[in-house]
Formats: sequence, C-alpha cells, structure tokens
Amino acid sequence: MRRLVRESALSVDDLIWPLFLVEGEEVSEAITTMPGIRRLSVDRAVEAAAAAAQHQIPAIALFPHVDPRLKTIDCREAVNPDNLVNRATQAIKASVPEIGVMLDVALDPFNALGHDGIVRDGEILNDETLDVLRQQALVQADAGADILGPSDMMDGRVGVIREALESAGHHHTAIMAYTAKYASVFYGPFRDAVGSAGALSGDKKSYQMDSGNSDEALRMAVRDLAEGADMIMVKPGMAYLDICATLKAGILAPVFAYQVSGEYAMIAAAADNGVFDREAAILESLTAFKRAGCDGILTYFALEAARILGTERHR
Ligand code: PBG
Repeated sequence: MRRLVRESALSVDDLIWPLFLVEGEEVSEAITTMPGIRRLSVDRAVEAAAAAAQHQIPAIALFPHVDPRLKTIDCREAVNPDNLVNRATQAIKASVPEIGVMLDVALDPFNALGHDGIVRDGEILNDETLDVLRQQALVQADAGADILGPSDMMDGRVGVIREALESAGHHHTAIMAYTAKYASVFYGPFRDAVGSAGALSGDKKSYQMDSGNSDEALRMAVRDLAEGADMIMVKPGMAYLDICATLKAGILAPVFAYQVSGEYAMIAAAADNGVFDREAAILESLTAFKRAGCDGILTYFALEAARILGTERHR
C-alpha cells in the first residue's frame, strides 16, 4: 500500500554520475577527502562509463585533475581540444555511445589561481572570462559532450555559450546552467579531487551566491532560461532543498540538484563510523530531492544507488 500511495520515487533515470579524471594509464587513485571515490585515467573512465551504462544511468559528468604545470593565469589549457577532459569525452563517446557526457564550463581546474574566471589584480574579470568560456564550450562540444554545465557563475555566460554553439552548428548540445550555485563550504573535497584547493586564493563569494538568498535564485533562473539554458541546477543540494522546490514551482523547466562532494563525504564518513546505514542514507537523501521537485540529481552515489535500486531491498 505504501508503494501505491508514494508521491515521489527515485529511479535510475534521475541520476548523473560525476567522475574525476587524471592523466596516465590504468590509474585509479584514492581521494583522501572522499573515501570510496577515485580519480581515473581515461581507460578506467571508459570502464566506469560502461558500468554506468550497464546500470541504465543516463549520463556521467567529467572533471579533470589537471597537471599543475599546465595551470596558467590565462587558463589556456581549458581551450585545448586535446586536454584531459576532451580526450576522455572522445574515448567514452567512441566506446560507450549510449551514455550522455556532461562537462563543466569553468576555468578553475586550469587556473593557476584556482578561480573559475580570469583574475587580474585580485579581481575576477567577467567579460574577459566569457571569451575563454566560449572557446572552452566549443572544444567540449567538438569532443562530443552532450550537456555543457556552465559552473563559472560569470554574468551572461549562458547566452554567450548558446550563441557559440548555434553558430558552430552544435544544435543538439544541451546547456544545464549551474543557476543557483551557492558559495559553499561543501565544495571542499571537490577542490582536493581536481587539485584546485592549493591554488585557490581567497574565496568565490564575489561570483557565487550568498547562502542567505532565495529570490536571487528565481531571478537567475529566469535569466539563464532567457539566455538559452535547457535545464537549471541548484548546488549544493541537501541544504538547499527549499531552493529546488521554489524553482520547480516558480519556473516550468527541468530542475536538477547537485549533491556535492562535501555532502558525499558527510554521508560516507557517518556510515563508515557506524552512525547510520549507508544504503538507507543514500536512498533517503536522494528521494528527498525528488520530493523537493527535482527532475534529476548529480550524485557521487549514482552507481551505488543504481545497484541498490536494481535490487528489491529498497522497497
Ligand atoms: C567548479 C566546480 C565546483 C564544483 C563543480 N564545479 C567547485 C567550486 O565551485 O569551487 C563542486 C562540485 C562538488 O563539490 O562536488 N566550477
């Protein structure tokens, strides 16, 4: 009877699985702040993509750990068609064509200063950054990315990327805007995973949202959709479920949430310490996103959740 009257249910169709990349072959290295999550070389990422596809996960998201020697002030590695994330995208689309590939449009993994935009004299340069983001988006679409996720938070970036995609003939590349991306402590482990933590000077509060704001999220959603976004995202997730619900109710567009690295780390650590059951925590936290109105969730638990959903136990 509970199943008959349940209002919201999690399905594998709701999941996007973020993966971390590293140079080399047959590399799978631990990330200390995210127990259970590993950086993968391209060959291993192809295997992970195949496992995701086998479990019917619709899409993965790729994030590169860039060699520190390639990080510069002008972030030129971001626009290199043969950079790590573009090579991985090509390899994955070649051997697992049925999986969707989403890539971040932002400069932080490539920036000697760890910021999402170009920095001069301690200030983020919005418009100069847009120019680099446009080129980054184009090489990513050329590599075969299905979804581009502008996570840089520069003003006007969705419009610039949409325009660039259209003029280059990439009519089928979708944009999932990081619309309500809050300046958050919960991104800490991610910055370790992509190796931008050490580089980062200061914080990202001048371009990411203030955690006290919710009207601003609605304004951003209206703006991003007008500029050509297909889907919008809220990030982090669990502490911002009210924002998910507000956007879903106020804006008739697909809304996604990103259960970020720090949220993963909290649940994993608590489960490792016997505080609660890991599988139950994964399912309850992901179901909460569905209840809040999310169409889908980016989560490091995606493969694990797909495995659990594939069994009968969760009912
Ligand atoms: C960078 C980016 C971040 C995340 C996704 N893209 C971190 C940041 O803005 O500093 C965070 C994801 C996570 O914490 O899991 N543009």
